[in-house]
Amino acid sequence: MKALYYRQYGGSDVLEYAEAPKPEPGRGQVLVRVAATSFNPVDAGIRGGYLAGVYSIAFPHVPGVDVAGTITELGADVQGWHVGDAVVAMLPLDADGAAADYALAPAESLAVAPQSVPLADAAALPTVGLTAWQSLFEVAELTAGQRILVNGASGAVGGYAVQLAKEAGAVVTATATSRDAGRLYGYGADRVVDYVDYAQSPIEVAGAPFDVVLNLVSTTPEQTEALISVVADGGFHVGTMASGPDDPGRQVRTQRMFVRSDAEQLAELVSRVDAGRLRIDVADRRPLAEAADVHDASDGGRLHGKTILVPAE
Ligand SMILES: NC(=O)c1ccc[n+]([C@@H]2O[C@H](COP(=O)([O-])OP(=O)(O)OC[C@H]3O[C@@H](n4cnc5c(N)ncnc54)[C@H](OP(=O)(O)O)[C@@H]3O)[C@@H](O)[C@H]2O)c1
Repeated sequence: MKALYYRQYGGSDVLEYAEAPKPEPGRGQVLVRVAATSFNPVDAGIRGGYLAGVYSIAFPHVPGVDVAGTITELGADVQGWHVGDAVVAMLPLDADGAAADYALAPAESLAVAPQSVPLADAAALPTVGLTAWQSLFEVAELTAGQRILVNGASGAVGGYAVQLAKEAGAVVTATATSRDAGRLYGYGADRVVDYVDYAQSPIEVAGAPFDVVLNLVSTTPEQTEALISVVADGGFHVGTMASGPDDPGRQVRTQRMFVRSDAEQLAELVSRVDAGRLRIDVADRRPLAEAADVHDASDGGRLHGKTILVPAE
């Protein structure tokens, strides 16, 4: 089979797209014929060696934490799944991923793929959808009527966060440039404001204060503190890249979240997609053979929105 892999940490030039052995499913695993994987910033972080202390990968390593595809083989002790099932999953970050014709997936990570979108597009859902879900409902415990600021809403996590927060009954303010404002209003945002100007002190954001600030941007400690200043007393700052100091005087809590694979939550996201309650947005569909260009664009800050990577037929 063909696979994308790298033999050492480095820039996008360490990526090779070449023949590789087809994996065999072990106990509790299934083999999936990949319809698509998606690019996540963490793929570039692991490739660059920046997360070597967090995820110990073996070389050669195949990236691609998201998978959408069809089961072609079952390993021992796999129950409830069949050859031919269309599935999605968030794969373990320290194992080989789905940037290949075939990928292994733990059966416990699988959800039935949505039927209302092309199977390949469903690769744009697992990791970022779970990140939005876990940030909003597990960490910040967002409830109806609360005010939320989604900082960095134009990205892949942000699109799901805005939709999920709105459906939960929150009043949603999103930061994004005008390029994405229309799409975010379409997702139900009550207010879209341009990038927060962290240079202001204290910062001002229309709609403040917020019961929850979901911060999807790699803010500096000073910028994070500025964002915490617009959290209402008793509120929450949850960051995917930044953590910040609690403000015990105002009972403001902060937490950096780390997404984990969760098949039950993924199935709930899929059911919302099929019910027309959650939109999967794919900004670009690229052949897997062009993955190095996608990594390079991400490294250079030129990638916008969710890109899926599609193996050759
Ligand atoms: N901790 C975890 O478990 C976890 C899980 C998933 C993701 N993450 C991280 O969370 C971040 C978001 O993930 P993602 O997949 O949504 O990435 P993404 O698609 O690259 O989105 C990031 C967005 O942030 C926007 N942005 C950058 N600077 C901004 C600023 N100053 N103000 C407002 N918006 C700004 C960018 O907008 P423009 O394109 O308009 O510049 C971009 O759309 C990434 O850094 C990712 O690595 C962490």
